[in-house]
Amino acid sequence: MTEPVVFPPLNEKAPGLLHGADYNPEQWKDYPHIFEEDLKLMKKAKCNVMSVGIFSWVSLEPEEGRFTFEWMDEVLDRLYKNGVFVFLATPSGARPAWLSQKYPEVLRVTERRMRNLHGFRHNHCYTSPKYREKVSIINTELAERYSQHPAVIGWHISNEYGGECHCDYCQDAFRAWLETKYKSLDKLNHDWWTSFWSHTYTDWSQIESPSPVGENMVHGLNLDWKRFVTDQTVDFLKHEVKPLREKNPKIPVTTNFMGDYEGLNYWKFTEILDIISWDAYPDWHVPRDGSKLAARVGLLHDLNRSFKGGQPFMLMESTPSMTNWQSYSKLKRPGMHLLSSIQAIAHGSDTVQYFQWRKSRGSSEKFHGAVVGHDGTDKTRVFKEVQKTGETLEKLYEISGTSVQPEAAIIYDWENRWALKDAQGPRNIGMHYEETVEEHYRPFWEKGIPADIVDMEADFSRYKLVIAPMLYMIRAGAAEKLEQFVKDGGTLVTTYWSGIVNESDLCFLGGFPGPLKNVLGIYSEEIDSLVDGETNAVDFKTPNHLGLTGSYTAKELCDLIHLETAEALAAYSNDFYAGTPALTVNQFGKGKAYYVASRNCSIFQLDFLSAVISETSLKPVLNADLPAGVSAQKRTNGQEEFIFLMNFNESEVYIELCRDNNGLTDMLSGKMSEERILLEPYGFKVFRKGLS
Ligand code: GLA
Ligand code: ZN
Repeated sequence: MTEPVVFPPLNEKAPGLLHGADYNPEQWKDYPHIFEEDLKLMKKAKCNVMSVGIFSWVSLEPEEGRFTFEWMDEVLDRLYKNGVFVFLATPSGARPAWLSQKYPEVLRVTERRMRNLHGFRHNHCYTSPKYREKVSIINTELAERYSQHPAVIGWHISNEYGGECHCDYCQDAFRAWLETKYKSLDKLNHDWWTSFWSHTYTDWSQIESPSPVGENMVHGLNLDWKRFVTDQTVDFLKHEVKPLREKNPKIPVTTNFMGDYEGLNYWKFTEILDIISWDAYPDWHVPRDGSKLAARVGLLHDLNRSFKGGQPFMLMESTPSMTNWQSYSKLKRPGMHLLSSIQAIAHGSDTVQYFQWRKSRGSSEKFHGAVVGHDGTDKTRVFKEVQKTGETLEKLYEISGTSVQPEAAIIYDWENRWALKDAQGPRNIGMHYEETVEEHYRPFWEKGIPADIVDMEADFSRYKLVIAPMLYMIRAGAAEKLEQFVKDGGTLVTTYWSGIVNESDLCFLGGFPGPLKNVLGIYSEEIDSLVDGETNAVDFKTPNHLGLTGSYTAKELCDLIHLETAEALAAYSNDFYAGTPALTVNQFGKGKAYYVASRNCSIFQLDFLSAVISETSLKPVLNADLPAGVSAQKRTNGQEEFIFLMNFNESEVYIELCRDNNGLTDMLSGKMSEERILLEPYGFKVFRKGLS
């Protein structure tokens, strides 16, 4: 399946790029003048969307069954009259105290089997029938009253689903889930390998969710529990959405993700959601290597874009200045706010939104950045930067709905991540899966080559190059798909610690890398763990078809492999395995499969992947050498390309354009581009270019 070139707007009532914030007027109901001021300030800040009602449950239903929607009526009516659309929230992210008091079963039970008290927000059981009933009632009321309201262009379902509950309802639901999956206890015992340590279950009722004071060493159980938590949360999402879709199926639904939050496999949510949205809070300026952080944020944007096959997503939350929950609440340096907003658009977002519109006066988020501060004016640096962002997005409106069309994909798979980190294996002080994925993404980011971030369920046939770092788990069908992809002419790059277990976390028998042995043309006999600071080296054999030479540092994990049909491109230079292959390539059908046997320094990733990128003829979005810390991305509508050049450095940089970049027009100034482009500190350019 290929990616469409142009996608319809998020909602046809609101074409163009959206700009706005979480709006919580219920906090200000005792200050009537504030709403008036907000409406004026929203206009000034060029805001055209607000997310309303996220934590409004008690203001909408102050006591069981008594609803007070009048204030919400006024908010929606007046926002609409003032040109502001609304993503209306379902309020399930935090429940009223009366609800917890009357029905304590709605409160979560921890993994130590203690029931929480009322408080906080993500503190409710997704299984509890009572919680589901109460959520369904309030969602139905909201849908009846507002799903035809002209302001409402989307549903914001709950807020940042997350966490887990171990109550009796959840235990029963888990057991039922297991019975559906395994059908028989014999099958479960086999797949969890429970004969080890005499852990065999003889009755379904003996099974409990993992606990630090109980069972937590059966990897298959741990993995299935995580899968169950995802499925149960997805089921809760479906339950929330049902009454909304019944009233008006035309209103799209989204729920705000937290990037690559480990606790939930977001891929399982994507079918139910009409739009993907996520909340991005990078701690800009805190890490010394800012471009490493910028690349990580790029990866997360790409992941969120990939969730629905390249469809534009929403940047649902970001802070206009600082957060108040990170170690250091550092201010965004001048320019950084606009740059980070543009970065989201460059990677496929059609919105820039904030938490929150107006700073709370009290409680736990009173010092979190907001568009309007405690001074309540438009005079602040932050307000002006937001205003400039709004003006910029207006000028870039044609970009909405356009696509990215990457030719490369990197596999970043949740179940693989869970199993790999739980494995108790060659390195128990950190397998660094996430970092390894990021390191394999970074050369794409630095060279301005768009990439999708996918899981192993993806359709690989649309790509030329697939990178699968540490593909420890191979679920049924994935190896066959990768093999077919290479046979048909694709290039696959994978690494050490791949093809080790199946989807039940049972090791493949007959040698590693399990079902990938054929396509890779190697087998792995042992894997060595290097202590921190210890290194080996990977020496290229010359000449080799990639044109790489010299020696690169290897660290942490060194796989000891043997060649079958593959060819060695590099070998280890030290230790008892000196001279054995460290990088191999296997010609397979019309394509090639590379195996990187050791974790190597980041320069290796850059040089090696750059060579593979050239070999596979992947096109950078701009024909230019990009200085460190500068990224180029592109979106297209099929007739034109929109090219983003972004400088994440705190100093200015120049970029020399090569001759075939003629015809670049700066979308903000309307001028043709110079051959030598200056990017200010945290500066950016967006060019348009006709496609012939
Ligand atoms: C999350 C929540 C918001 C707010 C912000 C603060 O993203 O969704 O309600 O608490 O964090 O950064
Ligand atoms: Zn529960």
